[in-house]
Amino acid sequence: MSRDMFDLTGRVAVVSGAASGMGRAAAMALAEFGADLALADLNLVGASQTEQQIKALGGRAFAVACDVSQPDAIRALFARVDGEYGRIDFLGNIAGEGVLGKPEEITLEDIERSWRNLVLGRFCMCQEAGRRMLKQSRGSIVNIGSLASVSALGRGHIGYSMAMGAVAQMTRELSTEWSSSGVRVNAILPAQVVNPSLEKRMAADPRLKDQWLSGIPTGRLGRPDDVKGLAVFLASDASSWITGALIPMDGGNLAMNSGGTRRYVD
Ligand SMILES: NC(=O)c1ccc[n+]([C@@H]2O[C@H](COP(=O)([O-])OP(=O)(O)OC[C@H]3O[C@@H](n4cnc5c(N)ncnc54)[C@H](O)[C@@H]3O)[C@@H](O)[C@H]2O)c1
Repeated sequence: MSRDMFDLTGRVAVVSGAASGMGRAAAMALAEFGADLALADLNLVGASQTEQQIKALGGRAFAVACDVSQPDAIRALFARVDGEYGRIDFLGNIAGEGVLGKPEEITLEDIERSWRNLVLGRFCMCQEAGRRMLKQSRGSIVNIGSLASVSALGRGHIGYSMAMGAVAQMTRELSTEWSSSGVRVNAILPAQVVNPSLEKRMAADPRLKDQWLSGIPTGRLGRPDDVKGLAVFLASDASSWITGALIPMDGGNLAMNSGGTRRYVD
């Protein structure tokens, strides 16, 4: 077995959410393994910082302002990728937020906002990438879902959870449609990965962190860098027979029954 199976030299990767968190971490890892990057985010300043970090490593990258809830912005992003690189080998579909609210109170507009960000946005990105990858007979797409793709979170996550459930089915359907043409589609389902929104929620309710940790047998919350290995693996030939998979990135959370207990180590 050769390490070359993880080599991404000459491959083009489009990553959304590339200004921070898992998007930036995934983009950096892909660049470290040789890929050329298109970095999309609402936050152009942050995406440009990621661009600079990649260029400092000797890599090739450009940043684009793109709101993934707006199909026209996504189409403009892919037109730019066509112009700069003329191909796409990997899509990391990472950006997009949910709007929280109790099921009995949330407005339909807020349900629609989560849907636009996470379902329409992820799908439009897949469609634009998929059209190009099908022509090349080659490509890999990774959608970031959530443990909320397959289980419930409560605490006002109804809009987010419904949208993330759709991301799981989007992944299975696209894999089924496209994998015989060389285009693989997988999803990563993270548990709690520290980001500014989680930090704010933990500060507002100090019980939350313990609650989360009680469900995570590895005994720590996720870090954005935890996505790096999966991003490289799923973009590379090392995963060439992996498609349609929903891969938990959760420190063991999904495997443990809610009545189970992790072992505490002092
Ligand atoms: N952090 C977690 O615990 C966790 C768990 C499961 C799933 N997720 C999902 O993973 C994805 C990334 O989360 P993260 O923790 O890296 O978040 P983050 O807040 O660290 O980064 C998100 C990035 O996406 C950008 N963004 C937000 N909305 C956008 C939009 N409409 N168009 C373009 N860019 C947009 C932000 O500017 C930011 O740079 C999100 O979809 C999130 O719902 C996160």
